[in-house]
Amino acid sequence: MINKIHSLGGYIHEYQKSIANPRAFWGQQAECFYWRKRWDKVLDWNFDEPSIEWYVNGKLNITENIFERNLYTHGNQPAIIWEPNDPNDESRTLTYRELFEEVNRFANTLKRLGVVKGDRVALYMPMVPELAIAVLACARIGAIHSVVFAGFSANALQERINDASAKLLLTADGGFRGSKITPLKEIADEALETCPTIETVVVLKRTKSDVKMVVGRDIWWHKAVDGQSTECVAEEMDSEDPLFILYTSGSTGKPKGIVHSTAGYMVYSAYTFNNVFQYNAGDVFFCTADIGWITGHSYIVYGPLLTGAQTLMFEGIPTWPDAGRFWDIVAKYKVNQFYTAPTAIRALLAQGNDFLEGKKVDSLKVLGTVGEPINEEAWHWYHDHVGRNQCPIVDTWWQTETGGILISPVAGITPTKPSFATLPLPGVQPIIVNNEGKELTGNSVAGNLCIKYPWPGIARTLWGDHERFKQTYFSTYDKLYFTGDGAKRDEDGYYRILGRVDDVINVSGHRLGTAEIENAINEHPLVNESAVVGYPHAIKGQGVYAFVVCGELSTGGVDGIRKSIMQGVTKIIGPIARPDLVQIVPGLPKTRSGKIMRRILRKVAEGDVTNLGDTSTLLDEDVVESIIEGALVDVKR
Ligand code: WT7
Repeated sequence: MINKIHSLGGYIHEYQKSIANPRAFWGQQAECFYWRKRWDKVLDWNFDEPSIEWYVNGKLNITENIFERNLYTHGNQPAIIWEPNDPNDESRTLTYRELFEEVNRFANTLKRLGVVKGDRVALYMPMVPELAIAVLACARIGAIHSVVFAGFSANALQERINDASAKLLLTADGGFRGSKITPLKEIADEALETCPTIETVVVLKRTKSDVKMVVGRDIWWHKAVDGQSTECVAEEMDSEDPLFILYTSGSTGKPKGIVHSTAGYMVYSAYTFNNVFQYNAGDVFFCTADIGWITGHSYIVYGPLLTGAQTLMFEGIPTWPDAGRFWDIVAKYKVNQFYTAPTAIRALLAQGNDFLEGKKVDSLKVLGTVGEPINEEAWHWYHDHVGRNQCPIVDTWWQTETGGILISPVAGITPTKPSFATLPLPGVQPIIVNNEGKELTGNSVAGNLCIKYPWPGIARTLWGDHERFKQTYFSTYDKLYFTGDGAKRDEDGYYRILGRVDDVINVSGHRLGTAEIENAINEHPLVNESAVVGYPHAIKGQGVYAFVVCGELSTGGVDGIRKSIMQGVTKIIGPIARPDLVQIVPGLPKTRSGKIMRRILRKVAEGDVTNLGDTSTLLDEDVVESIIEGALVDVKR
């Protein structure tokens, strides 16, 4: 089994060991897995190229480590517990053996459809067991899965499919979300008008919506799997063969295809799952994320299943039929560890305690949060009300790029402080640098958060663009991985994440590039240019504030154009990126060299214009005056 930390002394000891000799430490963590061939070397790396290889020349399959390795002991135990959108519909439980058979069946289906090792398979699916089954089936045969969150638009889906040159798309007729249905197949059809590499589309029947099936391209899921064997020998993979691609937003326009490889990701997702949440055999673990994000990959699918855990998968949303839904689910399945995002906590807090009162949530032992900084009010509500003052909160800081949690308390062991991610996990070596890249040593410092040594779960490249990988993460500061986050280390050496220092914003825990939203706004025929910044939002953490310069106003006037800009962004990226506030401005504040001074726009968006800082490089002061005035008069918050 994975080495488990049991005490604060144990944590300190493991941490010191991991830093003194990372190779010995991570070699030991990998021992409990099943290797077709053992690695020659634990780690080869440099952050210059960058080139990172863990468990060099090892051969394995991650699904053999979920299934074959666990079947004797866990075969008849629940693997996935699935709660449907509608609480009156039947839930489903798949034991490890049942899941194994379904994965093999779908793996054989993929093979019959011509998918081979190294091919990319795109998934655009609701949160149903078939999504997890398909992810694992890809891994079984060595196909690279690329899950696209089902809230993205046709355009965003198309972009991701084409970047990865995916051969196959897995989708569903529709997806239930609360009282609504997302027409997934219809959206996929629109995307596929410009996706030349897709040969086949497999469509799961979920909502029974009317869909068009394209002859020669589309096939129903139930027909495709019909008659396929439930046995499938796993493909032998190299440690460094890519396991999946997951797209995330960056500070420049196009989304980045983060590539994770097999062995390092396996060891890291399992190690962090076991330790951070202190999962014990028989516990029920509930992560409320969507598998379309990294949190779902690592802590609904891989981490728990590699551990032989019971992982709960929920199809719906926290506020339907009412804001007590999470607590009903916790009570129904006696959930022990619960992992969600601050935005969900704030949304539920705002509904008051009525939805929580009387709910039997005393099975809870550990509460987790992820995705954005958690404010103290939300932390206390979570701790005092949901956790009845008895559950440790693990504020887990990590990123799509890191594969797993890097800085976090170990549940019940690391003393917590509201809104602090606390201390690095074993093997993680954070450093804080100033803008010149100089290390800020000692305690009570704040600056840019970097990591100076690789951990097994670190991303290896960006799909098809290693140069951008290098530029984005390894060239800002010499020989360091730059996270894009600001952080402070307090007098106790505890880390507090301060938020992004680049042009990335975090809206309801969803990561969005401001450039991406600007590009979408600029597609509007009446828009000349735009600038997007984040601003504090009570529920979402950050809201999207767009400053837009228009050539002329349409007949709908300012309100009409605002609305059509919002609709445009929804169409091009998806509802998660829709601007909350749109201000039509006569011009943008620019420097003499033409660079937009976002700092000023951020101040305006925050509603704090008392101190705009240094404005000496500003080209036109009048523009700023009218923006400030417009923000007060025109923008309804
Ligand atoms: C960004 C990464 C990692 C899974 C979900 C998000 C922010 C993440 C925390 C936290 C403060 C956090 C950071 C990070 N973030 N966790 N506990 N406290 N901020 O993954 O979409 O790749 O976003 O989310 O800004 O860089 P992601």
